[in-house]
Amino acid sequence: MFDMDEVAQLALLSDSYLFRALDDEGRRNLAAAGTSRAFEAGEVIVRLGEPGDSFFMVKRGKVRVLGGSEAQPVELASLGRGSCFGEMALLAGTPRTATVEAAEPSEVVVYDKGDVDAVLASYPDVRQALELLAGKRRLATTARTG
Ligand code: CMP
Repeated sequence: MFDMDEVAQLALLSDSYLFRALDDEGRRNLAAAGTSRAFEAGEVIVRLGEPGDSFFMVKRGKVRVLGGSEAQPVELASLGRGSCFGEMALLAGTPRTATVEAAEPSEVVVYDKGDVDAVLASYPDVRQALELLAGKRRLATTARTG
């Protein structure tokens, strides 16, 4: 049996191109592993420079990605429902490359590194899609912040 949050997470994962390669079982396992968390406008979800061992999908609302430095932030992106973040530190084992904060009251699904790693090990196409996204974002960040 699924609870309502798992049903909502399944819909989120099914709609995302990143997880297209998952079969039903993989999607259900990942949905069962995620936890929904609510954030008020302005609340920081991940902070630039901190270690990162979780991955996020935006379920409701909008989050703002801020690069540069704490003193001189540069807005890199605004991400809405279905977008993910936190993949860069997770994949590369590096600190967070940006601060991500809620731009409005938002809900995000949080996945632990272990659960994501299990998916990446079983579904190489998902790893490839996430690596591609991380590579594009890294280039965009470098172009904006040097
Ligand atoms: P991570 O470095 O783990 O934590 C901050 C996140 O912000 C990062 O992963 C990406 O998910 C996201 N991010 C970083 N740079 C960009 C960008 N240029 N465009 C969109 N999202 C980004």
